[in-house]
Amino acid sequence: MDLQQALSELNLVKDKSNLESFFQKYLGKKWLLNEEFSKIKDASIEEKKVLWAKLSEIKNKLSEEYSQKEAEISIMEINEQLKKDIVDISVNPKKYEWWHFNLLAKTRRDLEKIASNMWFIIDYGHEVVTKYENFASVNIPLSHPATEMHDTIYLQEQSPDWENFVFRTHNSAHQVQDIQKYWVPLKLVSPGRCYRFDDMDATHDVMFQYIEWIYIDKNVSIAHFKNYISTLLSAIIWRTVETRIRPCHFPFVEPGFEIDARYEIIDPKTWETSKSKRIELLWAGMIHPNVLKEWWVDPEQRSGFAFGIGISRLAAIRYGIKDIRYFTNGDLRFIKSF
Ligand code: DAH
Repeated sequence: MDLQQALSELNLVKDKSNLESFFQKYLGKKWLLNEEFSKIKDASIEEKKVLWAKLSEIKNKLSEEYSQKEAEISIMEINEQLKKDIVDISVNPKKYEWWHFNLLAKTRRDLEKIASNMWFIIDYGHEVVTKYENFASVNIPLSHPATEMHDTIYLQEQSPDWENFVFRTHNSAHQVQDIQKYWVPLKLVSPGRCYRFDDMDATHDVMFQYIEWIYIDKNVSIAHFKNYISTLLSAIIWRTVETRIRPCHFPFVEPGFEIDARYEIIDPKTWETSKSKRIELLWAGMIHPNVLKEWWVDPEQRSGFAFGIGISRLAAIRYGIKDIRYFTNGDLRFIKSF
């Protein structure tokens, strides 16, 4: 049997069926090689060794070339199939629908517009902050149980001497840096995502959009706060909303308040309206002197207020929606109704 001839035959093989007949001819059960091997038994011992070595070499070479060819052919076949299988993924422009912002994004942008019209600086800060920034910088000592008020998501500890990081639980976390950056008097808003390990329900989510407002100047009082709040709410919510201010404790303010709202829910199917339960809309207060001291601001000279609003709750009130999960669950029926 001639190896060269076999190889040149293999070279001519172009598809699976040729490959199969080549296999039958040379390497299959009735293979030519097999015949050659069977001749060995009639040879003398010396010849046997030589023949065996030669034949084995031919067999190995041939099998190697064969499997290479087999791989080549299957790749060729796949490529040909792919050429036939082309799917037209271009979008039919006629079917493309007019878009609008997600309602949360829209509400956030409108809040930002209102804030800049009121001469507030907008600074987004970082979503990952140090434990110090999230807690101690706003008068929540790290050993204090108040840190538990927020179900914090901690990042894995890096090394014992590193400051440990958390996902910010509120945007108050970078006020300490904002003060260093812009100093007082300061009017600043920081919109963005916050994270809390909460159970999800109609008014809570693990990740939520939040906007924090801070105003520090000489002689800032609760009267300023009330004025800002009422201007802001009437600019952002287009319908009348029943609000209620009640005193509340937060370690970083003195005094602290919470504002609850009751609003009209619209049923998208029947357009009927009903009254919601009261939901907490914003948390606020006059900045605690200890916090000002921590930021190197003299509490005798300056005072200020700060408040934080959950944007999804605000958007729920604005659009009359019962459950904040609608904003992010991607249900097209909901999205298209705005
Ligand atoms: N950071 C508080 C929280 O997320 C909310 C808050 C309370 C923000 C009082 C404020 C404030 O700015 O003054 O629970």
